[in-house]
Amino acid sequence: MENTKKVMLSGIQPSGDLHLGNYLGAIKNWSVRADEYDCYYFMADMHTITVRQNPADLRRRTIEQLAQYIACGLDPEKNTLFVQSHVHQHAELGWVLQCYTMFGELSRMTQFKDKSKKNADNINGGLFAYPSLMAADILLYQPDYVPVGQDQKQHVELCRNIVQRFNGIYGEVFKMPEFLSTKAGARVMCLTQPESKMSKSLPEGCVFLMEKPDDIRRKFKRAVTDSDTERCVRFDAEAKPGVSNLMSIYSAITGKSYDEIEREFDGLGYGAFKPAVGDAVVELLTPIREETERLLKDKAYLESVYKAGAEKAGWVAEKTLRKVYKKVGFLQR
Ligand code: TRP
Repeated sequence: MENTKKVMLSGIQPSGDLHLGNYLGAIKNWSVRADEYDCYYFMADMHTITVRQNPADLRRRTIEQLAQYIACGLDPEKNTLFVQSHVHQHAELGWVLQCYTMFGELSRMTQFKDKSKKNADNINGGLFAYPSLMAADILLYQPDYVPVGQDQKQHVELCRNIVQRFNGIYGEVFKMPEFLSTKAGARVMCLTQPESKMSKSLPEGCVFLMEKPDDIRRKFKRAVTDSDTERCVRFDAEAKPGVSNLMSIYSAITGKSYDEIEREFDGLGYGAFKPAVGDAVVELLTPIREETERLLKDKAYLESVYKAGAEKAGWVAEKTLRKVYKKVGFLQR
């Protein structure tokens, strides 16, 4: 009885290679939901081109991301995995919803302001209207929950405003989605600048899912610990952000509490702790990398997954789009 389950939807942009922060903060939690929820996960490639991309890289990262999702435990039999651009209804509903999103609302989006600063030579219409497309991504599937990072909360709020506006005019067309913070997972910080989130833009502080064991170990050995004098493994996010970040990574992987970790490394100091975290990460990521590599050699299988995903997603999306087209007054074909 699939349609009695709650629906959940999220997307990741194939704009960079997936890293430990994506895994511990988001993907890991996704895989455990499949039995309880009807889950949709997609590669948000249409969002990615709001910033200029190298076409070959975008294609490679899109298929690699799909392989990684599966390698991370997202079972394609239980989850609907698809590529956004394969489901044309996203672009179509995106256009309609742009007409129900206000210029002022879009102007207030902090991600737009940030990205405009970073891409001053390419502040295009798509970058500006991005939240309307994201609202379409969400509303096509009438999800109950949208699990995303804190940085996407404002976009989900805007989506909720669009629902209110649209339903206010046309009746109950869209279900009101709820923002679900992925905070339940670990918030992984940069290894070299632990004040900032782990991000591909600081590659030395970032551990990619496909990285080789030696490189991973090297990055953890070089991870910034704190300049406090006690030099012991103790959790204190304010005073010891570097060590605390390593502890939260170690805890997320091993399931040990901070108390247990403190006891484990009592008297041993950072010299023993940092390589131990590196080893735990290598142990976690090695099977994921190997499985991804195996899947990437099986293009026919990956193709069958994204085709089936697009078909299922398209079927659901089309139902919603038909309803919307009718409501706004488009002549039926
Ligand atoms: N905007 C999201 C990000 O940059 C990705 C995304 C696009 C998304 N559409 C979505 C997330 C719909 C959740 C739901 O991370």
